Amino acid sequence: MVVDKKSNLNTPLHVAVIMDGNGRWATSRGLQRLIGHRRGVDRVRDVVRVCPDYGVKYLTLFAFSTENWKRSEEEVVGLMRLFKRYIQAEATKLMADKVRVRFIGDRTRLDKDLRDLMLALEQQTAENDHLHMTVAINYGGRDELKRATQAIARQVQAGTLDPSEIDEVTISQNLDTSFLPDPDLVIRTSGEFRTSNFLPWQSTYSEYAFVQEEWPDFTPGIFARVLEDVSSRERRFGRVAAQ
Ligand code: FPP
Repeated sequence: MVVDKKSNLNTPLHVAVIMDGNGRWATSRGLQRLIGHRRGVDRVRDVVRVCPDYGVKYLTLFAFSTENWKRSEEEVVGLMRLFKRYIQAEATKLMADKVRVRFIGDRTRLDKDLRDLMLALEQQTAENDHLHMTVAINYGGRDELKRATQAIARQVQAGTLDPSEIDEVTISQNLDTSFLPDPDLVIRTSGEFRTSNFLPWQSTYSEYAFVQEEWPDFTPGIFARVLEDVSSRERRFGRVAAQ
């Protein structure tokens, strides 16, 4: 099913996704957790493919949180390898589909090979405009706010910013997401009702959709259903309903 952007003004322009449930999907089938993550990459490909048809211009994916380092070394190493492989394997297709890719999160803890691949993909896709895909790796909302606060404090210390000038725009501009509009919709898969430190500043007025399916089972059809459901909601941003 295709959600026609032109026929519904409320179709979310920026969709952010907490891709949860890969591990459970795998273990409930007697498979290793990494198999679930691999299946999750296939779903990333599907969602990226259909976003332009569904009127979604910005897609932001939570791939690895600042808390995910606490997982087993095998899983962490496997996930990092998966990110590298995705970048290497997908670059040509992303260019053909005119997808611009950017990464958010603290890169300093990532290994140099991965950081180099991330930067090269950002540079290679910088002129693309069909879909803006942002991947959060070693991302945590509180960590992002901490780093933004440090950056603002440095500007004050350098004398280039007066504390009285700090407003909401200053904060937004110092976040990793400074180049993005706020998400209209945050989707979380696998039936969990938590936001888990994902875009806390940016999602203040976002709609949320919690779906039962685990991420490896998240099909374009489910995506279309969620978008249709959300399109019918009225977003008021603190105002009263339109008469
Ligand atoms: C959450 O499921 C998922 C992750 C921590 C990893 C998400 C990564 C991918 C889908 C792969 C690659 C992504 C890109 C953009 C290339 P979980 O492991 O927390 O599942 P569980 O709650 O069932 O344990």
